[in-house]
Amino acid sequence: MKYFIITGTSRGLGEAMALKLISPEHHLICISRKKNNDLIARSSLMDYYEYDLSNIGEIHALMEQVFHKIDVTNAEGIYLINNAAVLAPFSRIEQASSQELINNLHINLLAPIVLTSCFIRSTEQLHIEKRILNISSASAKHLLPGMSVYSAAKAGLDIFSTSVGLEQGNESTAVKIVSVWPGMIDTRLQEEARNASKDTSASASADIFRMVKDRGMLASPAVTADQLIKLLLGNSFHQGSVVEELRV
Ligand SMILES: NC(=O)c1ccc[n+]([C@@H]2O[C@H](COP(=O)([O-])OP(=O)(O)OC[C@H]3O[C@@H](n4cnc5c(N)ncnc54)[C@H](OP(=O)(O)O)[C@@H]3O)[C@@H](O)[C@H]2O)c1
Repeated sequence: MKYFIITGTSRGLGEAMALKLISPEHHLICISRKKNNDLIARSSLMDYYEYDLSNIGEIHALMEQVFHKIDVTNAEGIYLINNAAVLAPFSRIEQASSQELINNLHINLLAPIVLTSCFIRSTEQLHIEKRILNISSASAKHLLPGMSVYSAAKAGLDIFSTSVGLEQGNESTAVKIVSVWPGMIDTRLQEEARNASKDTSASASADIFRMVKDRGMLASPAVTADQLIKLLLGNSFHQGSVVEELRV
């Protein structure tokens, strides 16, 4: 049995990856604030946690519950996909509220860090395949006004992945960790970026997101999910790497 812990499965890319992974050989453990009943209805091998990942202090307790669902005697691989993220605040930094800044960094950076720490601790003794895929973004390097915190979080996630890869090395019990830029995908997060109102400080950036949509440049979540799963389960999952371009 392969076990997949996936965050942000209520919609978008996380939902698409979970849908693709449903199989009698896969046990899925999904995490988001809103339960995805459609997903739950499609699989008898799924546990769903309605959890707000901005609640950093309780993540270790959540992961204890998650690992109770994993039967290590039959596990052939355990995978963590840190996918949940928020765009807000989509504004110049001085116009963002402190709460928005805290939320962004908690969900986009600190939660994946704590989840990774718990994952490595819980699987330390297991001689099976253990992999973490961090869903990052080209925004880590390609900067736009209004996205400073989102970009900082994603750049942090890339550096974190490479650093942990260095720590884990290539020992037989090492957890392999990779950060990936998935490309631009037609999801709610993109919609949010397009819909920033004309009079906000990020309106020039919103124009770019509208242009990308109008020109048909957004990938479907299903196609990107396929590429990400191939990366996660394939031979190109190189310890500590940041994958900037997904290949089919
Ligand atoms: N779409 C793109 O073009 C694009 C490009 C580059 C990178 N990405 C990355 O791809 C990943 C998926 O994004 P998406 O486009 O699919 O976004 P999305 O449609 O907005 O979905 C985001 C997911 O994250 C979950 N989430 C948000 N806040 C949460 C919280 N506090 N606690 C738990 N879960 C939370 C949401 O669930 P709930 O609201 O139910 O909690 C939802 O399932 C993100 O890491 C994003 O940065 C996307």
